[in-house]
Amino acid sequence: MPITIRVRRNGPYVIESDEVTVVDWNGVAYPVSRRPIALCRCGASSTKPFCDGTHARTGFAAAEAAVPGSEDKPAP
Ligand code: FES
Repeated sequence: MPITIRVRRNGPYVIESDEVTVVDWNGVAYPVSRRPIALCRCGASSTKPFCDGTHARTGFAAAEAAVPGSEDKPAP
């Protein structure tokens, strides 16, 4: 089954699969307590590589849509 990584507007990368493991540079898996997995895209999380919601407080802005001109479409 294909895995979808959803880029949240002004937020994290959300991996929509229960079959994903996030490993560090040594190949050791991070414990995951919540699904779907949200990976920090803003660089400000205190729980990297995971998103901790800090992006909302820092005003992180990155709303590039896959199709130019469709950036006003709300995320489901
Ligand atoms: S994207 Fe959420 S804290 Fe960085």
